[in-house]
Amino acid sequence: MTLNLEKHLSTRAKELQGSLGKQTSVPIQGLINLGSGTPDFIPPQAVFDAMQEAISSSRVQYTTWTGIPDLRKAIAAKLKSENNLDYNPDTELIVTSGAQEALMMTLMTLLDPGDHALIPSPHYDEYTRDTKILGGQLIPVATTPESNFTIEVADLEAAITPRTKAIVIVSPNNPTGTVLSRERLQAIGELAIKHDLIIVSDEIYEYYIFDDNKHTSIASLPGLRERTITMNSFSKSFAMTGLRLGYVAAPEALIDAMLPFHHAMMICANVVTQYGGLAALTEPRDWFKDVLKEYDRRRQAWMALLDSIGIGYSKPQGAYYIFIDIRSTGLTSAAFVKRAREEAKLVFQPGTIGGGAGEGFIRGALTTPSPTFEEGLERFKAFIARLKS
Ligand SMILES: Cc1ncc(COP(=O)(O)O)c(C=O)c1O
Repeated sequence: MTLNLEKHLSTRAKELQGSLGKQTSVPIQGLINLGSGTPDFIPPQAVFDAMQEAISSSRVQYTTWTGIPDLRKAIAAKLKSENNLDYNPDTELIVTSGAQEALMMTLMTLLDPGDHALIPSPHYDEYTRDTKILGGQLIPVATTPESNFTIEVADLEAAITPRTKAIVIVSPNNPTGTVLSRERLQAIGELAIKHDLIIVSDEIYEYYIFDDNKHTSIASLPGLRERTITMNSFSKSFAMTGLRLGYVAAPEALIDAMLPFHHAMMICANVVTQYGGLAALTEPRDWFKDVLKEYDRRRQAWMALLDSIGIGYSKPQGAYYIFIDIRSTGLTSAAFVKRAREEAKLVFQPGTIGGGAGEGFIRGALTTPSPTFEEGLERFKAFIARLKS
């Protein structure tokens, strides 16, 4: 009998088919990726040294499920000194395989089939897949270019139903670059208290902050620690995306509830990587100033170009994206991305990848190194001129 794949695939597998698109592993000659989510710098040498040392000392067995004690201690110290958060390294932290695992584990812990999680939209698209996998629903709450894609608390409140379990906050946000102020976060927190909701706070872009914006960890605000799960990662902060290292911080009862899911997926995070992460946190962080300066230079270059050719954008407050308004070209986000690739060999993400609120926008990024970056901008300029002629 020939295999009947339709019969074997779960309903959820069928629902998710095609949701990622096809990834090509062979780089296509001449393409410039101006929308990449991968930072282009190299982690501090200490990270490589620590990983090499872990390998040469044969430290390759499982660690404690929640991560090596020294790394948890270093994370707790970082959260205390930088984020004004107090977590017990023994009972209130789990080291994860990136924020990706952290967010899946978190949603697994919170959502039953049919439950809702709210998220300001446009948003990071993985949240959609994860809630689908769980049979839950991610409810995107639209934000608009007029407010620089800042969520209105009244809009969040209007989306709450008896099935709402959580509000997901990503600040700085991917793909819009929006940073929520302390006051806005406090107001969201008050809403969560009023309706007894959990706050899931994804802070992986916390170090990428521009102008006079400030990053605030929502769990540090009055009354919010008990209901907040804070997620972070080494991917963006230290350019360690492929090493897959992140963590969650939450009150002990929530951590205890999350642990079986972490164990089911990972048992523990990669041990060698954990030693790399420990070195990353132990090193002084002044080297990052130059990275941020360079990313800000690219941000300014993007904005100057877009201003000069009459293309709008949402001014990036944080993260390393620029959300570009392509409505004046008359193309949809998907059509623009397709044509930019085919006609100008430029790669962007459509703004719609994280919800319909991003229609008419594309995600550009600050992660392309020079001189490819400058060449990409020149191509973009010429492409827009051709579209508008
Ligand atoms: C908002 C957001 N959360 C989580 C992730 C996943 O990050 P990690 O590499 O830590 O798994 C990403 C990756 O781009 C992201 O943009």
